[in-house]
Amino acid sequence: MIHSRIAGTGSYLPPTVLTNDELSRRIDTSDAWIQERTGIRQRHIADKSQASSDLALEASRRALAAAGVKPGELDLIVVATSTPDYVFPSTACLLQAKLGAKGGAAFDMQAVCSGFVYALATADSLMKNGIYKKALVVGAEVFSRILDWNDRATCVLFGDGAGAVVLEAADKPGVHASVLHADGSYAGILSVPGNVCGGGITGSPFLQMQGNQVFKIAVKVLDDCAREVVAAAGLRLEDVDWLIPHQANVRILEATVKRLGLPRERLVVTVDHHANTSAASVPLALDEYVRSGRIKAGHRVMLQGVGGGFTWGASLVTM
Ligand code: ACO
Repeated sequence: MIHSRIAGTGSYLPPTVLTNDELSRRIDTSDAWIQERTGIRQRHIADKSQASSDLALEASRRALAAAGVKPGELDLIVVATSTPDYVFPSTACLLQAKLGAKGGAAFDMQAVCSGFVYALATADSLMKNGIYKKALVVGAEVFSRILDWNDRATCVLFGDGAGAVVLEAADKPGVHASVLHADGSYAGILSVPGNVCGGGITGSPFLQMQGNQVFKIAVKVLDDCAREVVAAAGLRLEDVDWLIPHQANVRILEATVKRLGLPRERLVVTVDHHANTSAASVPLALDEYVRSGRIKAGHRVMLQGVGGGFTWGASLVTM
């Protein structure tokens, strides 16, 4: 049986940091309110010249270096993003060209904050078929571009960034199991309900959210898919060394680890300094914990996504 394993991780955060205090000088909010309700202290904001593919490029270079893989060896690139550079071509194709690679498959995955887990599960499945040997899976977002910076209920929550992993074919997992779900009847609670039409924008180009509904659904589905993926892997929750849920809000993360009965020390938290970077949040958090030596080779890590669609899912991997 062919498996895939994570051979290297990388991430990139644009240098400009926007703190809660800076935000509170622009809109009617406060550092205390944001920290108490979300755990967020700051977020990174991309420069105007940087698109998702640029953030993805930096994260990918670091992941490729960590894996000892050259861009030309990649036969598959999947980029999870809801803030692509263009309507088309895909950000994955743009990234492929920026990396100087050619000929492999490249496509985007649109599952909002679950995008990285959807992309990882898809790349893993394609590799299990034996078609692909080395894949780059990226989450990259410039959510700052789709926020109404006068809407205090949403603009304080998000940030920009990118994270990447290199997957290599292996004779043992690697990725043990993945589960993916969606319920489109919840499309309206978290959306950017606009599109490009006739030379302008139809609908709204800004993110809209019913925060309390999102909160309740997120906690429930993160619990459900954690239990489902450990069962699919033939393992137990106690076997999980690190839990990396989508970094939306520290209260969602803490509710999840508590419901699962896992020790708080196994919960990975980066939302405090990254804010919610949508599809980038899970690989960003993974890379930070790998580079700081907390996540080590052999550790079992659960990656979880939840977001617009509504979409959710989980992957269980051994590093
Ligand atoms: N600063 C100060 N006051 C604010 C702010 C702000 N930034 N935003 C809202 N408020 C006010 C509201 O206007 C409201 O005032 P009112 O009582 O006078 O009407 C009050 O605070 C309470 O507002 P709620 O929306 O009820 O606040 P809540 O406790 O639900 O917290 C939050 C809002 C943080 C958005 C919460 O619902 C949440 O975390 N939801 C999850 C959403 C999330 O994480 N989304 C990320 C994207 S989805 C995903 O990634 C899965």
